[in-house]
Amino acid sequence: MGILSRSPVSRKPHETMRLIVTTFVGVVFGFFIGVSFPSLSLTKLNLSSNLLPTIDLSYIKGKESGLRNAWSSINVNNRSSTQAQNLNDTSKIWVPSNPRGAERLPPGVIEAESDLYLRRLWGKPSEDLTRKPQYLVTFTVGYNQRSNIDAAVKKFSENFTILLFHYDGRTTEWDEFEWSKQAIHVSVHKQTKWWYAKRFLHPDIVAPYDYIFMWDEDLGVEHFNAEEYIKLVRKHGLEISQPGLEPNRGLTWQMTKRRGDREVHKETEEKPGWCSDPHLPPCAAFVEIMAPVFSRDAWRCVWHMIQNDLVHGWGLDFALRKCVYPAHEKIGVVDSQWIVHQGVPSLGNQGESQNGKAPWQGVRDRCRKEWTIFQGRMANAEHAYFKAMGIDPSNSTTR
Ligand SMILES: *[C@@H]1O[C@H](CO)[C@@H](O)[C@H](O)[C@H]1NC(C)=O
Ligand SMILES: *[C@@H]1O[C@H](CO)[C@@H](O)[C@H](O)[C@H]1NC(C)=O
Ligand SMILES: *[C@@H]1O[C@H](CO)[C@@H](O)[C@H](O)[C@H]1NC(C)=O
Ligand SMILES: *[C@@H]1O[C@H](CO)[C@@H](O)[C@H](O)[C@H]1NC(C)=O
Repeated sequence: MGILSRSPVSRKPHETMRLIVTTFVGVVFGFFIGVSFPSLSLTKLNLSSNLLPTIDLSYIKGKESGLRNAWSSINVNNRSSTQAQNLNDTSKIWVPSNPRGAERLPPGVIEAESDLYLRRLWGKPSEDLTRKPQYLVTFTVGYNQRSNIDAAVKKFSENFTILLFHYDGRTTEWDEFEWSKQAIHVSVHKQTKWWYAKRFLHPDIVAPYDYIFMWDEDLGVEHFNAEEYIKLVRKHGLEISQPGLEPNRGLTWQMTKRRGDREVHKETEEKPGWCSDPHLPPCAAFVEIMAPVFSRDAWRCVWHMIQNDLVHGWGLDFALRKCVYPAHEKIGVVDSQWIVHQGVPSLGNQGESQNGKAPWQGVRDRCRKEWTIFQGRMANAEHAYFKAMGIDPSNSTTR
């Protein structure tokens, strides 16, 4: 066809005609193959796969799905009728128990979950991975905190995948650290830890990891070892945890203060009147959002609770307990592996001045606002649930 269009004048008319006919026959033949192959039996398909190069076969398969897509859009995406037809037509695949939207695929080929393992461009895929880290640690970072992050990363063994979320757009500079070349770098300007987590840490993507650390960039890790931490978390059955915080630094909550005399603690005493129930936050079932560690199962729940628009995560700490049961036994603080919260103003300073207020003030205001909004949504959602179940919401056990 290319030749034909480039120099039509130089050809004799009957030659041109022959070309057109040949092309036409070719196109019809190709279409015929595309249409008829799907209905061929499996043995025939295997036979032809030996004759045809693999690339051609995948082209034909692609064509088939194209036709089917066209067909279903003619049916105005009438899912119920499509489904019914598929149920009756046993030559077509329809597996309702497949992940939503993938019902047409044979279950054996479905990969519903992924990972963050780096692979090679060459060699056998089965030999790509010399090891599969069981744990994931993420830091939300700006380049200015690089030496702190470098120190932190060194506290995590080779059993950890390192994932950095960059809020300042500087990524290549990190390659001055050897570990950076094996790390995953995600760069999006001026977003928060919870924004990144919601977008890039879907439970199905981080499924291979037993534990996920979601840490801020301003943590001092001199007295912390990640492998030891994991051992304690496993030993004490903590689904959601954090390292104890060095107590000398104007802490807000008693619960997250490090205790010198034990491995972990799961409850505390607060100022009089702060805790309506000793098993509820902030006296128990509570960690802060600066350095949480989630088990795989806990994260699958918490991810769903993160709101797309509430990027600061304020109030999440009080709601984490809704993801594990009994919360006061499965949420706790690890005392013997502890950290220092350095409180370096970082992303909090990246706001914009509004109404004569400093940038950090605007961020702080929004944090508070988000907390209120989140509490409201949670309360409404629980109320709606119990009402729908015919239970008097005021009589429910959630508070
Ligand atoms: C979808 O298909 C079902 C069953 O064939 C039919 O009853 C229904 O009216 C269709 N709905 C639409 C929106 O076409
Ligand atoms: C399935 O096919 C049979 C026979 O062709 C037909 O009687 C039946 O109504 C069909 N069922 C559905 C759900 O389409
Ligand atoms: C990494 O994990 C393996 C298997 O759990 C363990 O044997 C090994 O000691 C770990 N590495 C370090 C540095 O702790
Ligand atoms: C709460 O539950 C108790 C026991 O099931 C019941 O006696 C009581 O009437 C309920 N209260 C309200 C307000 O529904």
